[in-house]
Amino acid sequence: MNKGNKIYEGKAKILYETADPDLLIQYFKDDATAFNAAKKGTIHDKGIVNNKISTKMFGLLESNGIPTHFVQNLNEREMLVKRVTIVPLEVIVRNKAAGSFCRNYGVQEGRSLASPVFEFSYKCDALNDPLINDYHVLALELATKDELEIIKNFASKINDIMRSFFLKLNLELIDFKLEFGRYKGKIILADEISPDTCRIWEIGTGRKLDKDRFRHDLGSVEEAYQEVLSRVTK
Ligand code: TMP
Repeated sequence: MNKGNKIYEGKAKILYETADPDLLIQYFKDDATAFNAAKKGTIHDKGIVNNKISTKMFGLLESNGIPTHFVQNLNEREMLVKRVTIVPLEVIVRNKAAGSFCRNYGVQEGRSLASPVFEFSYKCDALNDPLINDYHVLALELATKDELEIIKNFASKINDIMRSFFLKLNLELIDFKLEFGRYKGKIILADEISPDTCRIWEIGTGRKLDKDRFRHDLGSVEEAYQEVLSRVTK
């Protein structure tokens, strides 16, 4: 599949057109940002690792009945995906307290939550991706009521599937972020699923195996990403 025009470049990925108007090539970069790009760097071979991990995760979800934009892996840094219109929401699912949840609600990192928390952020860098609720989503027409129900249902199922998958690898899924898109009138999962977009802790040691190592200068960033890849593809 030949790469056509670049149609979008984000912080971690680039999208290119293909000869098929319904398909795009998603290229994974090594660039890493945090805190809405206030912190910038690179994580060596992150693009390769995240492409492989995302390939595995989309396959797992598809085989469990979740529709995704994933079509096929093309090479080390590229996958073929369906061309969606992104719903401008970051859908966050939390199983334990971490990150902005601790800051916003004054709780200790790692605190158990009585039930998973589902959050929406309005995907808008200029506004710093503000936290919003269902009413904002509907009032601002970011998604319809039906779409919102489908998105929440998928997010909950994805949490169940991914949690039990990671548990078998002795990893705990603390939280993660999803993005959905519209494709031929249907909502499907888009973007990526990787240590950039999930918090993953090793069970027993509590070792962080995700982008928090970069965000908070914990060291061994590449090793953490490689560790997740080797367990996920075992
Ligand atoms: P948060 O605790 O910083 O709100 O992050 C929650 C989860 O969402 C965490 O797994 C990291 C992920 N995330 C992204 O993938 N992109 C982002 O821009 C942010 C802020 C978080």
